[in-house]
Amino acid sequence: MSGNIEWRLRARPQGEVTREDFDVRSAARPMPGPGQALVRNIYLFVPPSMRLWMDEKESYLPPQPLGEVMTGITLGVVEASNHPALAVGTYVNGMGGCQQWYVAPAERLQSVTAHPGLPLAAYRTVLDVQGLTAYCGLTEICRPQAGETLVVTAAAGSVGSLVCQIGKKLGLRVVGVAGGPDKCGWLLDQCGVDAAIDYKADDVGRRLDEACPDGVDILFENVGGPVLDQVLDRINRRARIALCGLVSSYNGGGTQRSSALMQLVNKSARMEGFLLTDHYSRYAEVVQMLEQWILDGSIRYQIDILDGLERLPEAMGRVFHGRNRGAQLLRLSPEEKA
Ligand SMILES: NC(=O)c1ccc[n+]([C@@H]2O[C@H](COP(=O)([O-])OP(=O)(O)OC[C@H]3O[C@@H](n4cnc5c(N)ncnc54)[C@H](OP(=O)(O)O)[C@@H]3O)[C@@H](O)[C@H]2O)c1
Repeated sequence: MSGNIEWRLRARPQGEVTREDFDVRSAARPMPGPGQALVRNIYLFVPPSMRLWMDEKESYLPPQPLGEVMTGITLGVVEASNHPALAVGTYVNGMGGCQQWYVAPAERLQSVTAHPGLPLAAYRTVLDVQGLTAYCGLTEICRPQAGETLVVTAAAGSVGSLVCQIGKKLGLRVVGVAGGPDKCGWLLDQCGVDAAIDYKADDVGRRLDEACPDGVDILFENVGGPVLDQVLDRINRRARIALCGLVSSYNGGGTQRSSALMQLVNKSARMEGFLLTDHYSRYAEVVQMLEQWILDGSIRYQIDILDGLERLPEAMGRVFHGRNRGAQLLRLSPEEKA
C-alpha cells in the first residue's frame, strides 16, 4: 500500500448508496506536518447514519461536501508522528475518512489499548460509540426501574443488542424486535431476551400483546415506521421512549401514524432524542464497565467485517437490508504494525 486510495462523494445519493455516487482516486500518501501524525486506516466503521451525512440537509454533522473524501469513523495505526506524545505503532481512533491513509493533529487522535482477550475491532464499535449510545441512551434517557417492560427495535444490531443485555442486567423484562428467525434466535439464546419478535414474519401487534402483557414502559427506538406505531399503541402511562435513530427513513421516506404519536399525549409519555456526543463525559467509565462485562461473558456482541474499501456500497446495502450481523466494518489493511 504505497499511495492512497480516496473515496470522494461525487453526488448526493438518491435512495440507496451506489458506487456511482463516488469518485475513487489514487493520490499520494499524505505527509504529516508539525504536531501531526500519519495514520494507516485498519477499520472503517459503516454505521447507518453515514447515509445521513451524504444528504444536502444538515443532520447532526454538517453535510458532506461534494468532491471531498467521504467522512468516516476509523481505527488505524500511527506510521509516522511529529508529536512527542504519540508514538509510531500506536493504535488510534479518529475520523480518518473513506481512504487508506490520513494525517491529523495528534490531539484529535484517541489512543486505543486493546485488552489481550478482546479483538481490536471491538474498540471502534461496542467498546466505543455503540456501547456509549446503548448504555447512556437506556440509563439516562429512559431511567429504567427493575420490573418494567422494555422494547428494543433493531434489537439484534450493535446498539440494540447491547441495550437488550444491559436491560436484562437492570432487571427489566426485555422484548427485542428484529428481522428474521436467525436474529431472533440469537437474541433469545445469546442475549437472554424474554421474547423476540420477527417483524418481517410475525403479526407484530399480536406478538407485542403476548410479550408485553403489562404494556410497554420503555422503548429504545432505532427504526421508526409501522413497528414504532404499534409499540406506541401499547405504551403505559409515563412511558419513556429514547429516540436513538430512525434507520428506516435514512434512504428517504418514512411516516408515522398521528394516532400513534397521540399516545404520547394520552399517556403523558416522553419521547426524547439524544446523541452519543451528549454523553462523552462518561466515555471512560462506560467503556471500562462494558469491557468487564464482555470479558466475564455476560455481554455478547457481533462484529461483521468485510475486506476492502471497494466494498463500501455493499456494506451500506447490508446495513439497510439487515444482512449485517452486528457492527458493520470494512477492513482496509492488516492489524499488524510495520
Ligand atoms: N443517537 C446516537 O447517538 C446514535 C449512535 C449510534 C447509532 N444510532 C442509531 O442506532 C440505530 C442502530 O444503529 P447500529 O449502528 O446499531 O446499526 P445496526 O443495528 O447494527 O444495523 C442496522 C439494522 O437496522 C435494521 N434496519 C435497517 N433498515 C431497516 C428498515 N428499513 N426497517 C427496519 N429495520 C431496518 C436492520 O436490522 P433487522 O435485520 O433487524 O431489520 C439492520 O441490521 C440506528 O438508527 C442508528 O442511526 C444512534
